[in-house]
Amino acid sequence: MKTHALSLYRKTDRLIIRYFELHDYDNWMQAHSSMREPQNEWDETNWDESELTLKKYKEFLKKQTHLRAQDKFYEFGIFRKDDGLLVGSAHLMDLSRGIFQNAYLGYRIYNTHWGQGYATEACKAALAIAFKDLNLHRVEAGIAPKNRRSIRVAKAIGMRKEGLSARRIFSNGKWVDLVLYAATSEDFGIKYRFSQK
Ligand SMILES: CC(C)(COP(=O)(O)OP(=O)(O)OC[C@H]1O[C@@H](n2cnc3c(N)ncnc32)[C@H](O)[C@@H]1OP(=O)(O)O)[C@@H](O)C(=O)NCCC(=O)NCCS
Repeated sequence: MKTHALSLYRKTDRLIIRYFELHDYDNWMQAHSSMREPQNEWDETNWDESELTLKKYKEFLKKQTHLRAQDKFYEFGIFRKDDGLLVGSAHLMDLSRGIFQNAYLGYRIYNTHWGQGYATEACKAALAIAFKDLNLHRVEAGIAPKNRRSIRVAKAIGMRKEGLSARRIFSNGKWVDLVLYAATSEDFGIKYRFSQK
């Protein structure tokens, strides 16, 4: 399956989950320059102006297209249906095919929009894309043990806790533990048909 040729897209009750496009530039720039101070250690605040130029945005789009063509990384903007506002992003990262058929799920909602269920709604759609469109068997999320909001999202979208993964990623100058959450297609009623292509 040429997954990169697919236009991956989902509509939910309140949101549209889709690739970033050139016409999203103003929306993207606004989203990254209207945040509050970081609300916790996993949050971010406004980007420097030098990171928000049209040139940088075009480079970002080009990189996204390249990564999709390699079937390695799919990033989705999370747009509100009623006014089109960009409220965050979800990612299916580091895809492994072969006997793994695995990806890692990442998500971020800009902090002015927290607590409205957007992450839960968007990530459910991202899982549907993973299992139904990208034909993945497993999606994992590695979460800092103290990131309770994120753990709440992982549970709410039907991921199971698999355990503590010691020294899993290098972050802020040190190796840190993450709690691993995961779901497989069977959890969503999809029997995986494995084909050795
Ligand atoms: C984690 C994040 C994506 C959540 O976004 P969100 O849109 O606010 O999430 P939702 O509204 O869908 O759900 C948040 C849940 O956490 C709960 N919650 C809110 N504050 C909480 C807290 N301090 N402790 C525990 N749970 C909390 C909410 O009640 C909600 O649960 P509910 O659906 O049972 O009510 C957002 O906070 C974020 O972008 N954080 C920074 C980046 C990050 O941590 N990404 C995840 C990396 S693994």
